[in-house]
Amino acid sequence: MSKPFYLTTPIYYVNDRPHIGHTYTTVLADVIARFHRMMGEDVAFLTGTDEHGQKVEKAAAARGITPKALADEVVANYTELWKRMDITHFRFIRTTDEDHRKVVQTRFQQLLDSGDIYKSTYKGLYSVSDEAFVTEIQAKELQAQGLAHQLVELEEETYNFRLSKYEKPLLEYFAAHPDFVQPDFRFNEVKRFVEGGLQDLSISRTSIQWGISVPDDDKHVIYVWFDALLNYLTGAPEGAWPPDLQIVGKDILRFHAVYWPAFLMAMGLELPKTILAHGWWLMGDDKMSKSKGNVVRPNTLLKFGNDALRFYFMRDMQVGYDRSFSFEGFMDRLNADLANGLGNLAARSITMIQKYRDGLAPAVVPTDELDRTVAEQGRALVPDFLSKAKADDFHGALEGLWIHLRFLDGYIVKAEPWKLAKDEASRAKLDAVLGLLYRSLRATSLLIAPVMPVMAQSLWDSLGMPGKAAEQSLGEFVYDAPAVSKVGDPKPLFSRIDKEAELKALEEPSTPTPTTAESASAASPLDVPELRPVIDYDTFAQTDLRVGQILSAEAVPKSKKLIKMTVDLGFEQRTILGGIAIGYTPEELIGKKVVVVANLAPRALMGIESHGMLLAASDNASKPYLIAPPDDAKPGFIVK
Ligand code: MSP
Repeated sequence: MSKPFYLTTPIYYVNDRPHIGHTYTTVLADVIARFHRMMGEDVAFLTGTDEHGQKVEKAAAARGITPKALADEVVANYTELWKRMDITHFRFIRTTDEDHRKVVQTRFQQLLDSGDIYKSTYKGLYSVSDEAFVTEIQAKELQAQGLAHQLVELEEETYNFRLSKYEKPLLEYFAAHPDFVQPDFRFNEVKRFVEGGLQDLSISRTSIQWGISVPDDDKHVIYVWFDALLNYLTGAPEGAWPPDLQIVGKDILRFHAVYWPAFLMAMGLELPKTILAHGWWLMGDDKMSKSKGNVVRPNTLLKFGNDALRFYFMRDMQVGYDRSFSFEGFMDRLNADLANGLGNLAARSITMIQKYRDGLAPAVVPTDELDRTVAEQGRALVPDFLSKAKADDFHGALEGLWIHLRFLDGYIVKAEPWKLAKDEASRAKLDAVLGLLYRSLRATSLLIAPVMPVMAQSLWDSLGMPGKAAEQSLGEFVYDAPAVSKVGDPKPLFSRIDKEAELKALEEPSTPTPTTAESASAASPLDVPELRPVIDYDTFAQTDLRVGQILSAEAVPKSKKLIKMTVDLGFEQRTILGGIAIGYTPEELIGKKVVVVANLAPRALMGIESHGMLLAASDNASKPYLIAPPDDAKPGFIVK
């Protein structure tokens, strides 16, 4: 059997739930996997989680749970998300898997035996966030960025990997394999780094417990990157080595393009064919990060559909470069390209084929220059798309396809098929128009299949094509093939998003909005901002907290979140608005005892003045839980 196309994503740290950055990496890999399958290849696509090391150890300690318990929770989030997004990996590898431990220890031993790993004492500055000792220059860089607090002085007995020995072999390999790292400008960065000189790499830690221990020396834990990178080896199916494509973010390129190939050279294994480094999704100019509180979770966008999110990722991000995310840009893209663009074109074309040709797309004989242009563009669609997609440029491939779809809109306007239909003398022209629209839509339904599998199938079906779009061979597709059966009724491909309403919903006073999969998973790790600065007691004591009892409650019209309540504070009754409709119905609130911030300045929400606030507990992903005083606490009691 021929070697499968072996494709990998990085394995994700389990110190946080997936955000759209992680989701993007995985979707890109999945699109490429599906594309290669449609090119007739057998594909092995591996993804998973990186569960050892200090980051995870610390995150678990902060939650008061074991690292493994944290990993299990976060893994559930990842696997649920990939299932929901129909990601087609063959294995979800975890670095805590037993077969992986064996591979890591065996390979470590192999390098110890060959002398590529040796023991020594190391003293230096260690970056906690990178989990690596840093050079003096790197330390200065971090200090200049105000990140000096991430550095600690460490001295430890350590095992080292003889990275310096591979400086020359790596440079030679780079010179002989000009496609080893994509895009080129990233490859140049890697080359410059190696040309700057490589020092041996500390490859074990005694300061952490959570990891795979060095064989026969278990006070040492194997460096998390050695452990993590080897997942690609553990997960490789029989006969799949070496990886054909390894997708990584630009931040982890050095690990993949320098350390990883050096490890493989030392192990006597073949190197991956290509490492593709993509850029970041930014918020404004900032990296998305939990501590900045600017993280966008995939579930927020998935309410518009899995296909839509995949399309947005592929269409808007040019692989290799950074891109700012905006919710508005996201909705504009989907409305323009899917609702108005493809959706509208498909519905119009199919309806016309039904109406004017009883559902069967006619044969095409171009009747004028415009027909010939459309036919030429149509025939070029698949080859153009394939040449870009083969280079992993789905941004460019989709752009080219959509230029043609927009051209077809103009073609309909110019040809005015509804007028042609009234005149028997225009029969050949109408045939050409309908036949070309049909052919281009049929090609489109296949080309979009790796990106939007559900929409592709729906379009394929409504064009009356038998079987599964995803199972067709892109390489053998014939643009001009005659229609085999009648078109079906057009199915709406994508409903227009009401942008104003969505933006308004975002602006409402923010209460946590639980989204289906997230709220359902009680196992989600906490999604909370960092602790606020310390305050003294006097500052706290200015807040007057009182026990209250809800006397009446009603939903606020036109608001999804707000409930208006009358609350008895013992000495007076107040109107208080709470953004709690996600967690409670008005009926179940009546009679509840609550804790009220009683000396808060009044504030108008949706035109109603609220005199106080109810205390509720939640993280950014859960519904609010009202804080309830014991039953026998009386309205008006002070809470302190
Ligand atoms: N565990 C390591 C990888 C080990 S691979 C042997 C790791 N994990 S990570 O969870 O921090 O990141 C995984 C991937 O997500 C990286 O490729 C990273 O670039 C990507 N992204 C994280 N944030 C991102 C954006 N904001 N935008 C796009 N991708 C980003 O690193």
